[in-house]
Amino acid sequence: MRSLQKRIEEVKDQARLGGGQKRLDKQHEKGKLTARERIEVLLDENSFKEYDMFVEHRCNEFDMDKQVIPGDGVVTGHGTINGRLVFVFSQDFTVFGGSLSETHAQKICKIMDKAMLVGAPVIGINDSGGARIQEGVDSLAGYAEVFQRNVNASGVIPQISLIMGPCAGGAVYSPAMTDFIFMVNHTSYMFVTGPEVLKSVTREDVTSEELGGASTHTATSGVAHRMFENDMEILLETRRLFNFLPLSNQEEPPVTPSSDPRNRSEQSLNHVIPTDPNAPYDMHNVIRPIVDDGDFFEIMPGFAKNIITGYAKMEGKPVAIIANQPCELAGVLDINSSIKAARFVRFANAFNIPIITFVDVPGFLPGTAQEYGGIIRHGAKLLFAYAECTVPKITVITRKAYGGAYDVMSSKHLRGDYNYAWPTAEIAVMGPEGAVKIIKQGIAGETQKDRENSYRNKFATPLMAARRGFIDDVLEPSKTRERICDDLKTLKKKHLENPKKKLSNIPL
Ligand code: COA
Repeated sequence: MRSLQKRIEEVKDQARLGGGQKRLDKQHEKGKLTARERIEVLLDENSFKEYDMFVEHRCNEFDMDKQVIPGDGVVTGHGTINGRLVFVFSQDFTVFGGSLSETHAQKICKIMDKAMLVGAPVIGINDSGGARIQEGVDSLAGYAEVFQRNVNASGVIPQISLIMGPCAGGAVYSPAMTDFIFMVNHTSYMFVTGPEVLKSVTREDVTSEELGGASTHTATSGVAHRMFENDMEILLETRRLFNFLPLSNQEEPPVTPSSDPRNRSEQSLNHVIPTDPNAPYDMHNVIRPIVDDGDFFEIMPGFAKNIITGYAKMEGKPVAIIANQPCELAGVLDINSSIKAARFVRFANAFNIPIITFVDVPGFLPGTAQEYGGIIRHGAKLLFAYAECTVPKITVITRKAYGGAYDVMSSKHLRGDYNYAWPTAEIAVMGPEGAVKIIKQGIAGETQKDRENSYRNKFATPLMAARRGFIDDVLEPSKTRERICDDLKTLKKKHLENPKKKLSNIPL
């Protein structure tokens, strides 16, 4: 009995040592934490319960039977973040480069199945050389088992991927189907085809960093949602994101105590809109003063900056915020901003998070690049996403709400629950300059400027929309926080169902 106990402890020690001290040191030299250190930072102290430390690969090819490391390159289990349950896997690059074998995949699948069974999120830490080359199709089968579970879990439990090393080839498609992808600057990359193959096939000469580094995916491709400077930062910020998310679609988002007064009057908001209707301003200066303690967790801050998406709390309750950003491309909707916001809206809808939308949008971006790129199809995504939403929706038009973009941005007509305008709102088919060029009518002797002014007086106010009930009230900006807090309370038990169907056919 004692010798069995000793053997068990030896195997566990061996699993903890992964690929050995030399490789662990190498991981540190690259500025990376080890798979187990990462879990320690991510989870509450001493909360991690590990499974499957004894699992070994079953491959006999290429002398693999002589290289067996218990745990097989991935640490799996569950623990808590601020006391709330979460399932975790962390690939260990020191064991066969963190490559995915049949059994490595089985360990990941086991925690995904458990997470679905009990309704808790999965956080996957990716640091892997991809499919275990020695295992061939067994390894590919393992990936597909994970992919299928990612799809089954989508919309049921939140799934978060942290890319903290290589993630290449087919391996990218598991994170790609999760809800959030965070990356570490300079030590992580994701691509379907690496630089060497690229060079031989297309003669393109790029580094891994240029092709699939964190800045590429957070600023250019829009594949990843946030970039962090090091392992500690990404893990601590993931804990922060976790505080805004429910454990599953069956639960409400987590409520935390808040000392920020619900009726705090915010005078800065009365002056935030410039007097020149075409002058830019930073929409963050609208969002931060309204939400609890100015705390705003932005999603995709580096991509499609003309729309802002992120999480905040109101009276301690999570909300999803979408806002046009007038200081980037005047806040227009284009292909990238529509896609970015549509996915964000759909996550909030799936996970019972109320949506607050701040509108200052001059319309859709014109041009052949946008039309050829399919702005019709992509703009429709955001429209579709808002329209199918059943969670509470509160909208505040701060300035422009022009054309079809007015309809898209959570308008009353798309089942907006409370729609407000600030006195500076202009709700019209287009701006005065363009409008008077098209409608040529006017009084004899009137100049272009006179006609613009008369159009502006008629349409560039919230009144016409308010008279029709499309705007519920015109708010003094400083009172916006109080009104939103009231509305969230009123809407707490909102229940709305879409017509029964197998699924919606959102334009892709
Ligand atoms: N299968 C099996 N073993 C792998 C592996 C894989 N896919 N990827 C890496 N390894 C092993 C290496 O053999 C090496 O083993 P060792 O420590 O016993 O020498 C160890 O992991 C570390 O790899 P190494 O190449 O030394 O690390 P690196 O940091 O220099 O490079 C990669 C990392 C990922 C760029 C490189 O390992 C690589 O190109 N791997 C193959 C990627 C691939 O084509 N995967 C299959 C397609 S999905």
